[in-house]
Amino acid sequence: MDESQLSTSLRGKRLALGVTGSIAAYKAVGLLRALAREGAIVSVVMTQAATRFVTPLTFEVLSGRRVATDLFESHEEMAHLAIPGQAHAMVVAPATANFLAKAALGLADDLLSTMLLNARCPVIVAPAMDGDMWTHPTVVHHVQTLRARGVVVLDPEVGPLASGQIAQGRLPAESRIMEAVHAAVTAQQDWQGQRVLISAGPTQEPIDPVRFVSNRSSGKMGYAIAEAARDRGAEVTLVTGPSSLMSPSGVTTISVNTASEMSDALSRHFPSSTVLIMAAAVADFRPKMPVGQKLKKQGQSALVLELEATPDILSMLSARRTSQIVIGFAAETEHVLSHAKGKLKEKGLDLIIANDVTQAGGGFGSDDNAVVILSATGEQKTLELMPKRRLADEILTVVRDLCLTSSHRQSLVE
Ligand code: C5P
Repeated sequence: MDESQLSTSLRGKRLALGVTGSIAAYKAVGLLRALAREGAIVSVVMTQAATRFVTPLTFEVLSGRRVATDLFESHEEMAHLAIPGQAHAMVVAPATANFLAKAALGLADDLLSTMLLNARCPVIVAPAMDGDMWTHPTVVHHVQTLRARGVVVLDPEVGPLASGQIAQGRLPAESRIMEAVHAAVTAQQDWQGQRVLISAGPTQEPIDPVRFVSNRSSGKMGYAIAEAARDRGAEVTLVTGPSSLMSPSGVTTISVNTASEMSDALSRHFPSSTVLIMAAAVADFRPKMPVGQKLKKQGQSALVLELEATPDILSMLSARRTSQIVIGFAAETEHVLSHAKGKLKEKGLDLIIANDVTQAGGGFGSDDNAVVILSATGEQKTLELMPKRRLADEILTVVRDLCLTSSHRQSLVE
């Protein structure tokens, strides 16, 4: 990235810079200057421990703004809501092991950790700690949790540490932190103007009032795509089958149970959408005659349930498209690519995202996934096993590059 690119992309961007109590806190002063030099408007938030290393006055003078340190201080605006509410990105540098633990667990016992729970913008964390702390299983676990949630946790660097140890634990170089800030701030704009309709989760097809036919889908992949699209500026509608996941904030969420309800909700929103991403595991078959009362055993040793095919929502919507991009998923257990290619063609899709649900560490219910994306024009892209939230971003980048070309955007976004 050259200097001219750097200096335009942060102009007018509001950033929250969290500083926690590591000996590397003094390096946050240099980071603040670098951010401010590029035109960012930076609100600094310090933990009490950080103020023991560097005074708030230093950050106050360099940012030209009051430094927030106390959750209980009275402000005109409530800092824990106002700062993350306006921020394009939040950066925590240096981040201690204590901060990583609080962030992973969702504790909110000071201003910075409370702000983090209110943040809906990209969050970048630059850890600094002793080498033995960085490799401690608890810290490793917390870092994994944060990454799975979409937080960008940079790896600390190897070098001499305050303890005298030479190990991995040094605050990542300022240039690496700046690069991550640029990536977060610029990436979040690339889906702006798109109205994205996403389906997620399983459907439940009633047998009687208390029983249903369903599948193992958790909804995690579809929800992750909805959150990623929202973070990158899209207007998102999520139509979800039953899932234990929280409705993502800033996304219009419509809950449904059956394939037929999902079909109705998607049909209503499809005409005004620019992109449909069908991540739901819609039942292919449903009980033909659901009964009004709970079925009784009545001494029977077997029960035959007659199933009928559900309408293929994706094929139906694809046939009705005007200028929408239509993307399907293919959850397969064998012959993944050939089955996915068949579906891409049969359903008239722009892209299909194929995953082998039998693979170790991925598939239904898991936090990670690996996929192959196939396009109608013959492109193929493999995305290795990674957290679903990160995979969601990678998928959106592939969709952007393959489908949202400038001519397409022209016709889609009026
Ligand atoms: O044919 P198959 O069920 O494997 O196709 C998977 C793709 O089709 C997924 O994107 C899924 O959401 C969609 N689908 C659908 N309606 C169905 C079954 C699947 O839209 N009844």
